[in-house]
Amino acid sequence: MQTSSEPPKVAEKPKEPAKKAEKGHPSGDKRFKVLDMTMKRNQYRQDALIEILHKAQESFGFLEEDVLLYVARGLKLPLSKVYGVATFYHLFSLKPNGAHTCVVCLGTACYVKGSAEVLAELEKHTGIHQGETTEDGQVSIMTARCIGACGIAPAVVFDGTVAGKVSPSEAIQKVKPWLNNTP
Ligand code: FES
Repeated sequence: MQTSSEPPKVAEKPKEPAKKAEKGHPSGDKRFKVLDMTMKRNQYRQDALIEILHKAQESFGFLEEDVLLYVARGLKLPLSKVYGVATFYHLFSLKPNGAHTCVVCLGTACYVKGSAEVLAELEKHTGIHQGETTEDGQVSIMTARCIGACGIAPAVVFDGTVAGKVSPSEAIQKVKPWLNNTP
């Protein structure tokens, strides 16, 4: 853990806006498109890194290495720099340490379709709150604000796979085997 009170410096010299590094992500995950749009809106400026990471966290629920790498490439920054900023600020969470992850979308569309109930059921069933990991290290629950799947709200991302129209009981069925340590 970083102990310095000085925030890592973000390159200040956005001379020319870097060109778009890549289109989308090979996974086809729509959340990377949202990330592309955010970087574009900020003209790929390196000094917009914090804002872009913030947006990325809203979409993904947490910042996993793949996302950090994507941002680093987009802004033409070394991964170490992006990683340094992401670990320095408390408002950013890196990938949780559970073997399985469950990200419940609490964006407006999902919220009105009941994602808060889905989250509440998951928390009740696992005995943990969002942002936490079960004691056996099996499941981490996180939240996001719009993962780009509003048409199938409420949406939950189970181990990186987006599931739509998820009811509280379906969410429980999904995480049950994880808690029982079955593959
Ligand atoms: S609000 Fe949940 S996917 Fe958009």
